[in-house]
Amino acid sequence: MSKRLVLFPLPLQGHQTPMLQLANILHSKGFKISIIHTHFNAPNPNNHPFFRFHPIPKTLLDSKASIADVIGLLNELNEKCVGPFREVLAQIVSEIGGVACLISDAMWHFTQGVADEFMLPRLVLRTSNPSSFVAFVYMSVFRDKGYLSSKGDRLERLIPELPPLKMKDIPILGTCDLEATYELVRDMIEKTKASRGVIFNSFEELEGPALATLRQDLQIPVFAIGPFHKQARPFSSSLLAHERDCISWLDCHAPKSVLYISFGSIASVDEADFVEIAWGLANSKQPFLWAIRPGLVRGSDGPAPLPNGFLETIAKQGRIVMWAPQDEVLSHPAIGGFLTHSGWNSTLESICEGVPMLCLPCFGDQMVNARYVSDVWKVGLRFENGLKREDIEMATKRIMVEKEGIEMRHILAYLKQKASLSIAAGGSSFTSLEGLVSHIFSF
Ligand code: UDX
Repeated sequence: MSKRLVLFPLPLQGHQTPMLQLANILHSKGFKISIIHTHFNAPNPNNHPFFRFHPIPKTLLDSKASIADVIGLLNELNEKCVGPFREVLAQIVSEIGGVACLISDAMWHFTQGVADEFMLPRLVLRTSNPSSFVAFVYMSVFRDKGYLSSKGDRLERLIPELPPLKMKDIPILGTCDLEATYELVRDMIEKTKASRGVIFNSFEELEGPALATLRQDLQIPVFAIGPFHKQARPFSSSLLAHERDCISWLDCHAPKSVLYISFGSIASVDEADFVEIAWGLANSKQPFLWAIRPGLVRGSDGPAPLPNGFLETIAKQGRIVMWAPQDEVLSHPAIGGFLTHSGWNSTLESICEGVPMLCLPCFGDQMVNARYVSDVWKVGLRFENGLKREDIEMATKRIMVEKEGIEMRHILAYLKQKASLSIAAGGSSFTSLEGLVSHIFSF
């Protein structure tokens, strides 16, 4: 009889998509899949006919579930979901049976305690990457050494323990409630260490050193089995509707001529920065496709307030959508660069399609991802000091038309090939996935 896996994604786009991709990958290995989910940002069961879906009773009023305060939301979810999650898990274990283990998002730290109550092994999915997870593991060291109170020029200094990260790249700096964020990170790390293993959507050839550090520091099995989106059966997990007509707009453009801009599903920018980005894009004269989701500009829930005269100026140059089919966009031949907030899914999708990046990280792991893109992998540029329209204009030209962009594309072609080889038979991710399957069978 095949074993059942119970997966519990965090209800945020950048976390839910990779969890559902992992579910598909493990389903293809013969496991039965049960997905426990919240009502808030619930996945669409119709897109996954082979899985069983188990909603947990309403725990949050939708109006309270604000992604503008992600730390508050995560704390509230971890507090309020304990009882309802336990009930649903109990039902699955007793009524369906055959459950081999629970796989939950690293941020669902409370699930370790519940899994222990049921004597059910828990595996963790960390949807961001190993390199940024190392920075989270080091957070107590950063605190003891006083790095968390860095200000002014000190923010530009290298972190001696983790070069080339700088103090300003510490993922929790700049959050409104540093202590609450620190505690959330501490719980995430402690409960990951208490789990039976952690899974990453990355591959050994990209992040070997970080994976080695984690294997040593966490003392649990670490599986790098990505890139997920290149292995999972294609399906839609988008919480917003994709505006697919931008693809025919891209069809009318020359190869590598269009800059794509998106800030993912939660990051937001100040109105002043938004205006600088808009005019920087217009002044670059480069064609662009910009995904402006509601809420992108801090403090506004609705459509972003575009500056006066902007739409008229860019009528022939740019295309604006609310939410793009990003996978298809990045793999389109017309795309030559990606201005991104450096969320891990976006970063990995860009690497896999060989697209150089302009990084404008906003918070959390994005700070580390952007540093790796610019200083370690050298496949993009990071905006370092403030945001002026001239910087956007110049940086766009540097990656789209100048020699720097060509050099980045060479490195990206190499990484893209390494990503494909890693998931092919005998490759690092392929082998790690086999290891994960055997590990689950050993429970
Ligand atoms: C969040 C965090 O912000 C990020 O730092 C972390 O690494 C993962 O969780 P998010 O901000 O949404 O994620 O960014 P990202 O990880 O890049 O995920 C966004 C996903 O939405 C990507 O898979 C991307 O393809 C998709 N997307 C984005 C669209 O389909 N259309 C869009 O217009 C924009």
